[in-house]
Amino acid sequence: DKFVTILAGGGGTRFWPLSRQETPKQFLNISGNDIMLNETIKRFKGIIPLEHTVIVTNRSQAVLLESIMHSSVPKSHILIEPVARNTSASILYAAFFLEKNQGESLMVVLPSDHHITSEDQFRETLDEACTVAIETDKIVTIGIKPSFPSTGYGYICYESKPFMTRPAAVYEVSEFVEKPNFKKAQSYLSSGNYLWNSGMFIWKTSVIIEHFKRFLPRLYKTMLPLRDHLGSSEAAAVLSGIYPTLQNISIDYGILERSDDVVVLTGNFGWNDIGSWDALGSIFPPDEEGNIVKANYMGIDTRNSIIYGNGRLITTIGIDGLIIADTGDALLVCPKDRAQSVKEIVDMLKEKG
Ligand code: GDD
Ligand code: MG
Repeated sequence: DKFVTILAGGGGTRFWPLSRQETPKQFLNISGNDIMLNETIKRFKGIIPLEHTVIVTNRSQAVLLESIMHSSVPKSHILIEPVARNTSASILYAAFFLEKNQGESLMVVLPSDHHITSEDQFRETLDEACTVAIETDKIVTIGIKPSFPSTGYGYICYESKPFMTRPAAVYEVSEFVEKPNFKKAQSYLSSGNYLWNSGMFIWKTSVIIEHFKRFLPRLYKTMLPLRDHLGSSEAAAVLSGIYPTLQNISIDYGILERSDDVVVLTGNFGWNDIGSWDALGSIFPPDEEGNIVKANYMGIDTRNSIIYGNGRLITTIGIDGLIIADTGDALLVCPKDRAQSVKEIVDMLKEKG
């Protein structure tokens, strides 16, 4: 059977001050349609039943999550991490949960912070990816044709000849590079052999568990007591005991970069991660001056800027390429090309407590 695991425990820190610890990005309605988590759930409706959804989230977000959760998602399928330890830990937790409850199953891992324009196209590609993962023992990824040298994504270098042609062209991955520096990103973009990693993964539960054993043995071993206590009365205590000690590593660095069993299908469904302020341009078309304005705003000689407000008047004169985000209690001003560094401000705030 197919099961979707939604990763919904990230901080979305690059969207500060809009995203906060208690209301991270996946709980925000950035597109103007619905909060990102609900959009994620609506997206696979029809190909995987809602009852087959597992959501991994953080303790600090659990109450909010449960309050908005679709009633068809079983409450027992909401896995709550006591502390955030990055996506490898979340994925292994979900894999153990599925292994225990379903035996072998097909695991579709989806981030909860994406925007997709062609939902039908998305469902078609996801369905094909599931078929590939069922027929092979591969790690199946969905690659997106890159459009600019982003340093916020993983890059997938793929072989020129397809490895399978049905149900779609599937390529072996010769190299996976997580978040390269700008120079590398530029060369990947111009080489034409690289795709962006969409962050969606499809594999058999047994296949990913084997990968953990091999590439993240320490994480795997530390998690074993959790696996053995799942469903028991000690589960919560075991979880709180081991989680803080887990290796903090993303699945991209931990497994995708290291495995030789990765394949990729291209996705063409209007994908955007909206990972940081500068990415708003891909969901909201800029005006003639190149500005994206979601604010009560007036300006003179202002170009290529992103201006986001919460009601009070924002005015600018003679600026180019800036992000201005005002939430009333906090204000961010930063050049667009420094949008990734917003994370560092959040780290500084955390340190200050
Ligand atoms: N439960 C849980 N716990 N979820 C988490 C945690 C955690 O500790 N950390 C992150 N997540 C969730 C986020 O909420 C998001 O939905 C997803 O996992 C991916 O994490 P991000 O932190 O958003 O990753 P990223 O965007 O920097 O990079 C990943 O996605 C890119 C595409 O959007 C990588 O897979 C890149 O290679 C990829 O290009
Ligand atoms: Mg992301």
